[in-house]
Amino acid sequence: MNNKVRIVEVGPRDGLQNEKQAISTATKLALIERLAAAGLRDIEATSFVSPKWVPQMADHAEVMAGLSRRPGVNYPVLAPNLKGFEAAVAAGATEVAVFAAASETFSQRNINCSITESIARFEPVFEAARRQGVRVRGYVSCIVACPYEGPVAPAQVARVALRLRELGSYEVSLGDTIGAGTPASVLRMLEAVASQVPVARLAGHYHDTYGMAVANVYASYQFGLRVFDSSVAGLGGCPYANGATGNVATEDVVYLLHGLGADTGVDLDALVDCGAWINERLGRTSQSRVSRALLAG
Ligand code: HMG
Ligand code: MG
Repeated sequence: MNNKVRIVEVGPRDGLQNEKQAISTATKLALIERLAAAGLRDIEATSFVSPKWVPQMADHAEVMAGLSRRPGVNYPVLAPNLKGFEAAVAAGATEVAVFAAASETFSQRNINCSITESIARFEPVFEAARRQGVRVRGYVSCIVACPYEGPVAPAQVARVALRLRELGSYEVSLGDTIGAGTPASVLRMLEAVASQVPVARLAGHYHDTYGMAVANVYASYQFGLRVFDSSVAGLGGCPYANGATGNVATEDVVYLLHGLGADTGVDLDALVDCGAWINERLGRTSQSRVSRALLAG
C-alpha cells in the first residue's frame, strides 16, 4: 500500500482569512517561507475573493508577488469566479481552487449564489484554466453538516463532487466546514463520494470544532485517502460559519501519519517552530496538542 501522503497546508489562507487583526503581507510571506522550509510542498497562499467579503485576503496580489517560489512547491490560491481566476493568473498563480458547497444556504452565504449558479460560474474558470495550463482543485463545503441547514445527505456531497471532477478538478477536497463530522458520518459520506469519484482524487479537509478532526483523518486514511488539508497550529475559523474553529493542526496530522509509518516529507520539529512563531505573531495559543506536548518537553 502506498504510504506517501500529501499534506496541503491551508494555514496562510483558511487559517488567516478570519483573523480580525491586520496581518502584514511580510508576516504572511514569512509564514509561507517557514512552511516551505519545514517540507510542505503544497501551500495555499491566499484567495482572489472580494476584499469587501474577506478583507484579510485583500493583499492577494502582493502575497503572490512576494513569494520566493521554491522549486517543487505549489502555491494554490482560491478563485470563486472568472474575475478571481484572471486576477490570480495575472499575479502568477499556476494552480487555483474553486469552491462549491453541498448545502444551498451555505452556498448563498459564502459565495452569494446557489449551487447550480456556482457551477455555472466555475465553467469559464475551468475552460480558461485548460487553455492556460493552470491546475484546478475543487472544494466541496458542508460535507457532513451545514451551519444553517443541519445534516447534509452523503448523496448530495457525491453529486457536487462528481460535477467538480467532471468539470476538470484534478482533485476534490471534502470540507467538513464546521467540524461536526465523526468517523462514522465521514465514512458514510466517503462511501457515497467514492462511488462517483476515485479515492485517489479525493482529499480530506477537516475542521476541528468538535475535536474530531484527527479521528476523521485517521478514518479517512484507513479508507484510502492519501491527501489531507491542514493548518499549522490549527489556525483558522470560517467567516460564514459562526463558531467554527480552524482546520486540524498540521503538526497533529504529521504526528499521526508518521506514527502510521506514512511519509509526509515534513520535518515535525521545524513545523512546530513555525507554529510557535506564527502564534507569537498573532498572540494566539496553539490548537495543536502535539505542538504543546513537544514544546513542553
Ligand atoms: P458577489 O457580490 O455575488 O459578486 O460576490 P458580483 O459578481 O455580483 O460582484 C460584486 C462586486 O464584487 C463587484 O465589485 C465585483 O467586481 C467584485 P463592485 O462593483 O461592487 O466594486 N468581485 C470581486 N472582487 C475581487 N475578486 C473577485 C470578485 N468577484 C466579484 N473574485 C463573491 C461573489 C464570490 C466574489 C463573494 O461572495 C466573495 O468574495 N465571497 C467570499 C467567499 C470566501 O472567500 N469564503 C471563504 C473561503 S471558502 C472556505 O473557507 C471553505 C473551504 O475552506 C472548505 C471548507 O472548509 O468547507 C474552502
Ligand atoms: Mg476550510
